[in-house]
Amino acid sequence: MPAAPLRTRTQVGIVGAGPAGLLLSHLLALRGIDSVLVEDRSRAYCEARQRAGVLENGSVTLLREAGVAGRLDREGLEHGGIYLQFAGGRHHIDFRDLTGRTVTVYAQTEVVKDLIDARLAAGGHLEFDVTGTDVDDLETTHPVLRYTSADGTRHEITCDAIAGCDGFHGICRPAVPAGLLTVWEREYPYAWLGILADVPPSTDELIYAYHPDGFALHSLRSPLVSRLYLQVSPDDEISAWPDDRIWAELQRRFAVPGWELKEGPILDKGITPMRSFVSAPMRHGRLFLAGDAAHIVPPTGAKGLNLALGDVAVLAGALGELLRGDPRLADSYSDACLDRVWRRTHFSWWMTTMLHATPGADPMDAELQLAQLRYVTTSRAAAASLAENYTGYPQRS
Ligand code: FAD
Ligand code: DHB
Repeated sequence: MPAAPLRTRTQVGIVGAGPAGLLLSHLLALRGIDSVLVEDRSRAYCEARQRAGVLENGSVTLLREAGVAGRLDREGLEHGGIYLQFAGGRHHIDFRDLTGRTVTVYAQTEVVKDLIDARLAAGGHLEFDVTGTDVDDLETTHPVLRYTSADGTRHEITCDAIAGCDGFHGICRPAVPAGLLTVWEREYPYAWLGILADVPPSTDELIYAYHPDGFALHSLRSPLVSRLYLQVSPDDEISAWPDDRIWAELQRRFAVPGWELKEGPILDKGITPMRSFVSAPMRHGRLFLAGDAAHIVPPTGAKGLNLALGDVAVLAGALGELLRGDPRLADSYSDACLDRVWRRTHFSWWMTTMLHATPGADPMDAELQLAQLRYVTTSRAAAASLAENYTGYPQRS
């Protein structure tokens, strides 16, 4: 007979040590609220997983106010615009001039490292390498979080609330009974091949390039390391993309007269499918969903990480009030987030469909994309709309 689980309690059980779960446990601790955070991957894996790189203005402010922006302020690279490239020309969109705001290039890996360090320094309870995560009794005031820790012990934690911050493939959203969630979903007929390259960036600002053969993006991680993306087929295996082929394709799609793309050793590469997905409400009983567990955007425009951080900023306040006996903010949590989520879902869809070559599209689609790109790069009103969304709308007060 299996041993009885070790029974304990906490105020908030958190599933997932991505940016959402980690920042939530930190924000709750600042309010004097205990949490236990469980993660099924290792700490090293979470800290090395290559993903996002751009923080909205409001995300930087949020991390600063939470006291976890020391390294971000030293090492983050403030960017005042982007380039849009099409038809052989490169056009600057000047965020500072158009909105008075900027974004900061600071990798998600670094945000995650900073948050893990802050939690561990404060004696926070983080459990990596768990298995068998399960949530239960969600409709009661004492939901239960179960998991098996790395040493094989089964745990059962009675909580006041559970935060599902376990990403798109996690177990929390599926724990909501069938029929209670409304889902909106769109898959795109392309994917991104992302590389990290040991070479200084060839550009001062990110370049989003439209090309008839597919989109390309030049981003960066530091003055010495570049991050680049290439539109590929969602059916492509990474083995079909040896390093020489990747560089040749990047060279072709970024080519403009008088500019050179520097090449270097590829340190990491992977292919990511692209989808838009929103599920609502972001709450069932005492289970609250946040970040990619509730919504996914295609990466063009760099919104996913920012959405995850924004959700938990709202959730921390709502849980604080709920645990003090006032349910009003918890009751409005989902609606408060979904307004911001849909704005970014629309912007990410708009950037994605403007910049990618759609397989099988007729020639009129390409002309419409080019008309939109010419408009955004010549009309101040259109450019300001892009800039306002890219740097974060509505702005966090
Ligand atoms: P996640 O980071 O996915 O974290 C969820 C965590 O839960 C994971 O650590 C997972 O291991 C854990 N977990 C899952 N199941 C369980 C379980 N059963 N038990 C315990 N733990 C579990 N966003 C931007 O804002 N800007 C960008 O520039 C950008 N670029 C991107 C580029 C790429 C290539 C990709 C893939 C994504 C990009 N994103 C970007 C999106 C961004 O990375 C995500 O939106 C962000 O990671 C969401 O954070 P999260 O904490 O909600 O989820
Ligand atoms: C990065 C990712 C994005 O999706 C984007 O739009 C800009 C930058 C990045 O990983 O650096």
